[in-house]
Amino acid sequence: MLMDTQQSHTITSPEGRLSLRVSVTSGLVYYELRRDDTVIVAPSPLALYDQHERNLLTIEHQVDYSFVESSHDETWEQPWGEQRYVRDHHNQLTLTTSNFSIRFRLFNDSLGWRYELQGSGNHVISREETTFNIDSSASAWWIPALGQNHYEHLYKQTAVHDIATAHTPLTVQLSDTCYIAIHEAALYHYGAMSLIPSETGLVSRITPRIDGSAAHITLPFNLPWRTIIISDAAHELSLSKIMLNLNDPSKITDTSWLEPIKFMGIWWAMFIRYATWGSGSKHGATTANALRYINAAAELGIKGLLIEGWNEGWDGDWTKNGEIMNLMQPYPDFDIKTVTSYAKERGIEIVGHHETSGNISHYEWQLPEAYDYYRHLGVRYIKTGYVSPRLNTGDFHSSQVGVEHYQRTVELAAERQIVLNIHEPVKGTGIERTWPNLMTREGVMGQEYEGGAITPEHTTVLPFTRLLSGPLDYTPGLFNLSGTSRKVSSTLAKQLAFYVVLYSPMMMAADLPEHYSDHPAFTFIRDVPVTWEQTIPLAGVIGDYYVTARKDRDSDDWYIGAVTDENERSITIDYSFLQSHTHYRATIYRDVDETHWQHNPEAYTIEQQRITSDSSTSIRLAPGGGFAIRITPEDTTSYPYPSFA
Ligand code: NOJ
Repeated sequence: MLMDTQQSHTITSPEGRLSLRVSVTSGLVYYELRRDDTVIVAPSPLALYDQHERNLLTIEHQVDYSFVESSHDETWEQPWGEQRYVRDHHNQLTLTTSNFSIRFRLFNDSLGWRYELQGSGNHVISREETTFNIDSSASAWWIPALGQNHYEHLYKQTAVHDIATAHTPLTVQLSDTCYIAIHEAALYHYGAMSLIPSETGLVSRITPRIDGSAAHITLPFNLPWRTIIISDAAHELSLSKIMLNLNDPSKITDTSWLEPIKFMGIWWAMFIRYATWGSGSKHGATTANALRYINAAAELGIKGLLIEGWNEGWDGDWTKNGEIMNLMQPYPDFDIKTVTSYAKERGIEIVGHHETSGNISHYEWQLPEAYDYYRHLGVRYIKTGYVSPRLNTGDFHSSQVGVEHYQRTVELAAERQIVLNIHEPVKGTGIERTWPNLMTREGVMGQEYEGGAITPEHTTVLPFTRLLSGPLDYTPGLFNLSGTSRKVSSTLAKQLAFYVVLYSPMMMAADLPEHYSDHPAFTFIRDVPVTWEQTIPLAGVIGDYYVTARKDRDSDDWYIGAVTDENERSITIDYSFLQSHTHYRATIYRDVDETHWQHNPEAYTIEQQRITSDSSTSIRLAPGGGFAIRITPEDTTSYPYPSFA
């Protein structure tokens, strides 16, 4: 018999602005989230069904459950990231029954909760109905899930009730001073969560396996965390570290080998049809070409070089070649020993490449030997790829089958001290805290779509959406913006801004070496770090503009990046975040009056200003433009500055 009385328990966030009420009504568990007494999420039921249509989160008897509260406050250090130290400060409420617990964690800026199933044996989860009863007329930014193209879409802005099936992170503006982002953390052994509109807001839909189920699990089993970030201003959503905090600490104890890196690539040449992945007269990955790129990277001061199309298997339609990709057999014109030993001589790290065309069976059949093969040649970074609408098993990339495959690759790579950059991945859920060798991933419509598909607005949406799920391999740094078969939808100064705005500890300098040599703007790409002490998002409006500041880990330098959509605008930078009583030199790379992403994208200027924390500067961004600033403390003894009080 189901209980018919109502019981509830309320906790507040450490600073007290957020409150969470968990209640049990007629056997169903509900949660409600408020900020300053305003409802953010109205009472929303939680349900998880097995193959017999039983809701595993039902409470059958009133005596059957209890609430337990606790608190936690800890600061931990990241081996790399957008900030060095992360504070995990939350109050916890656990609802425990004999069959399951629901663990809620309320942070100052967010809520997370997780279903923890007790018992034993194998079970099938047919569907999960985690509901989010939010204002259905509010504006949401989202990309479609469960289609052919995974995460490679422009973001749409619609009312919540007009969303189709959407990936998370999904961002919603509830009012002028309230933004939320719904997502998940620690996705293991389960399908990824997407969201669909319901009568009362949104409800979860788990990417199905090919048999239609959400997951096949063995009890006891903890599901991924469901998360909601709440912020006053949209640009502050990224300050929440809930996703990382809900993941386990690093399983890699010696992190000294996890070096963030910038890399060039035998890559863009294939997209602009100067070269091919497959063999023939235009083959890109030849020994001679690789040696040329190694020399260029060494001369430009870039540490890494990606080489794609080096192995047998690319000929014909490589997107369908999964079962013939041979990841231990170089093409005859690519002498991998010569290339890797020359790279070592020149101090260049080769970023290896494994394209699977979505055939995870054939890939796993070649693992771990294909990792050992590279490792013996001294290759410590590998980019992987899964181009194909579905995995060879018929499953979606974001299904439980995909999630488990990617995880196997991460763990096999970690055992061999190999860093991964996954393209066509499952979205990020913060597992890089536990497995920091998973440095970055694609999961975005990146620059390889330039040539028509990308709008100038796109990168003004990503900081509020995709980047909330972790590092992003957007492959920035194109300098030749209209001189090839692909017209690029940004200005040159905006390409520089990407290095600060679009975070990745493995960051590409994507253009051809000849487009960089002797180019004064390349100095910014050479200088900009890829791991940070601190990040301060300064301002932004979703789909209009975004500006952020980051402090280097190894010096007192700061960097700022700003991007705008198709509209020109001026942004005023208030430098009050800098240390007071210090003189700095700001080197500003910006658009000029004539710059325009469509007809004059490469026009830019570099100027220097002397600034202090009292300064502010207004900088104009051209249509589709941006700016990038490097700020360096000055040796004041060499300048005739008046002394500070
Ligand atoms: C798609 C990836 O995103 C791209 O970076 C790569 O070059 C091709 N697949 C080939 O693997």
